[in-house]
Amino acid sequence: MTSAVLPGAPFRPGPRCDHAAAWQTLTRLWDAQGRDLDMRAAFAADPQRASRYTWEAAGLRVDVSKQRWNADIQAALTDLARECALEAHRDALFDGQAINTTEGRAVLHMALRHPQRWPGRANAEGLDEVVAVRERMLAFADQVRAEGSPYTDIVNIGIGGSDLGPQMVVRALAPHTDARRRYHFVSNVDAADLQAVLDQVRPESTLFIVASKTFTTQETLANARLAKAWFLREGGSDIARHFVGVTTNLKAAADFGVTTTFGFWDWVGGRYSLWSSIGLPIAIAIGSAAFRDFLAGAHAMDEHFRTAPLATSLPVQMALLDLWNRDFVGCPTRAIAPYSQALQRLPAYLQQLEMESNGKSVDFDGQPIAVETSPVIWGEPGTNGQHAFFQMIHQGTDVVPVEFILIREPDHPHRDAHDKLLANGLAQAQALLQGKPTDEARQEQAPTASRELDPDCLARHRTFSGNRPSTLIALDRLTPARLGALIALYEHRVFVMGSLWGLNSFDQWGVELGKALCSQLLGRISAVREGQADAAAGLDASTAGQLAWFF
Ligand code: F6P
Repeated sequence: MTSAVLPGAPFRPGPRCDHAAAWQTLTRLWDAQGRDLDMRAAFAADPQRASRYTWEAAGLRVDVSKQRWNADIQAALTDLARECALEAHRDALFDGQAINTTEGRAVLHMALRHPQRWPGRANAEGLDEVVAVRERMLAFADQVRAEGSPYTDIVNIGIGGSDLGPQMVVRALAPHTDARRRYHFVSNVDAADLQAVLDQVRPESTLFIVASKTFTTQETLANARLAKAWFLREGGSDIARHFVGVTTNLKAAADFGVTTTFGFWDWVGGRYSLWSSIGLPIAIAIGSAAFRDFLAGAHAMDEHFRTAPLATSLPVQMALLDLWNRDFVGCPTRAIAPYSQALQRLPAYLQQLEMESNGKSVDFDGQPIAVETSPVIWGEPGTNGQHAFFQMIHQGTDVVPVEFILIREPDHPHRDAHDKLLANGLAQAQALLQGKPTDEARQEQAPTASRELDPDCLARHRTFSGNRPSTLIALDRLTPARLGALIALYEHRVFVMGSLWGLNSFDQWGVELGKALCSQLLGRISAVREGQADAAAGLDASTAGQLAWFF
């Protein structure tokens, strides 16, 4: 199940955003309107602003009215997308052209969530197998869940895209999960991660899933070997029943000793792979029917993205705002604040999705990109973040657009607590918008003010500039379908951002150098241990010094 796209029309990107005429328009608009745009005045002047900038697709409701833009800016941004030939790029994506040019691959994770065989013209190897592999994987998942199944613990061993997506979704859908089993995710080569899980499980009731697209990843193979050795040491014998592999590299999995494997294909990027067999832990957790709902939610977002005009497309308009915030408003980071404990791993998942996809400095032709690309993505669930870093978001010198994710119906019976949660999220967005002028702060009695302090000075400490941007993504309920749609929304938005910046969102060469140097260092560490005097020869003095200290 390896390579690749059979030859089709070679993909040619459109013009880069900073080369487009609309970029000049946006630069002028930034000076004339954007820089001093006061959202409070914009709301006062336009009673329709909230409804004008609240859109729905695939069951998600997104309010971008608290962003520093207006109709002129939105129109110019949409022109920019048009001029950059975004529609042609989107069509090439769905068409299965090799838009991942540096790896010569198509990008077709959408085929994994299509209910039938991918209907488009795409001609990538493996497309005919998608439905059959999915059915086999789902049947296996249901067997693991069946009455009388020996498994009480599912241990997923994988890292990056082979960990973050499944882990995030299994946690998010806990109320939909079969509570008779525990789900563990081991990723770090720090063996403490694995050991903490092994301390809780027994060989006869544990299913290990070795998840690796390439089946060459150091961390995953190291942990899988340790797990296998533990399994045998603790009296386990039936490796075939207790270890399964999920990979595009079936041969390497077989060499490792797993006989049950679920494949996928190289046109599925690691960070886009949770829809494939990599989603096995999700399917075991929620069952095949709910997994199909999860795929269906994502598919609904695919259809929206594929067919909606640019001006009403949720992923497109959100990506245009991202570009506006990054390159004109000048925001180096974006915070993700899910007001949902279930979505606690969403910020980590989005870090990989966005930063591994769009953290690039050269365009498709290898030319330096002249504008800023991926912001730093970070965050924590609300309300916890409020008591940690929201101080900086309200009063710091950087403007941080915040993405609030709020869910109307809780999956627990504590309605009062949920009201508090929602009120907190809404209040933070409100506070970022309205701020608090110094005059108002001066009139308030500060609870802990020193008598000696000049009241004007204190008032300045208690001033909030306001006019700080945020987006609110609202879900009626955190169901498999809604979560699927939410993830697909982010995926397409990342694609659109990358397309406008003119970069390839689907490679990740930036992770290679560290990997190569790590294996060289492991060789040097062995040399040190063998007492070779020249083990550090040629290293920079800092690394050589560390080698001497650690080993
Ligand atoms: O090192 C980065 C990366 O290649 C990610 O893109 C990927 O999700 C992760 O490593 C794990 O890779 P694999 O699934 O091949 O083990």
